[in-house]
Amino acid sequence: MSAADILKSKLGSLKPYVAIVLGSGLGPLADEVSNPVRIPYADLPGFPPSGVSGHAGEVVAGEFGGRPVLLLAGRAHYYEHGDAGVMRPVLEALAAIGIDRLILTNAAGSLREDIPPGSVMLITDHINFSGSNPLFGEPSERRFVGLTEAYDARLRAAIEASAEATGTPLAKGVYMWFSGPSFETPAEIRMARVMGADAVGMSTVPEVILARFLGLRVAACSVVTNLAAGMTGSELSHQETKDMAPIGGARLAAILKHALGEGLLS
Ligand code: HPA
Repeated sequence: MSAADILKSKLGSLKPYVAIVLGSGLGPLADEVSNPVRIPYADLPGFPPSGVSGHAGEVVAGEFGGRPVLLLAGRAHYYEHGDAGVMRPVLEALAAIGIDRLILTNAAGSLREDIPPGSVMLITDHINFSGSNPLFGEPSERRFVGLTEAYDARLRAAIEASAEATGTPLAKGVYMWFSGPSFETPAEIRMARVMGADAVGMSTVPEVILARFLGLRVAACSVVTNLAAGMTGSELSHQETKDMAPIGGARLAAILKHALGEGLLS
């Protein structure tokens, strides 16, 4: 059976139209889903193992405020597999079961003192600085995906409205994708700033490209875990990302729960 067929049979009458990829710090959102159906990635053909600590690797489908939702707890990164298309089977399965909206979340380093750790940033646009692309090798003409409006205006407006309604501060900015897994150097961060980035991170952009390729509408938010390399006196670490992610993660969870429960994402 294909991953899509397995998802369909496990979900039964539940028909989510929106999926949320839970990055660092957003994991607890999966525990708040009512009537959850949990499916480990290992049971879904093509779904990648997600080896990064802090990322579980399971689909959690259920309801928020009475509305169906599918959460992806854990993602695979380019730096784990050397394949920017590692999430393609996942997004293809979602599209095949009728999901047409994708909300991506991640942990990121901020280039802006006025967007400090603990902040949530709505991604308005991105810069692909990885040198890679999830559509390398894609033979069809569909590979020439337009990204002029990659981040869906209606979904962005819904997230902004939800932030406003919940009294949650929401920054906006451009996310620059570095391959990782090493963190950036201070010189790279100075370059990123000159190039127009507000935050840097190691995920999300390949999923945005794949989602647009598959015709899904997309929005994405970063949880700021640190000021980027060279902006403070201290070295960056994955431990810091894991320790700080729950702070902004709780804020972003409040925004997304409200948006879903109110039907703003429909
Ligand atoms: N750089 C890249 N990725 C990150 C960072 C960072 O500073 N913080 C969290 N993820």
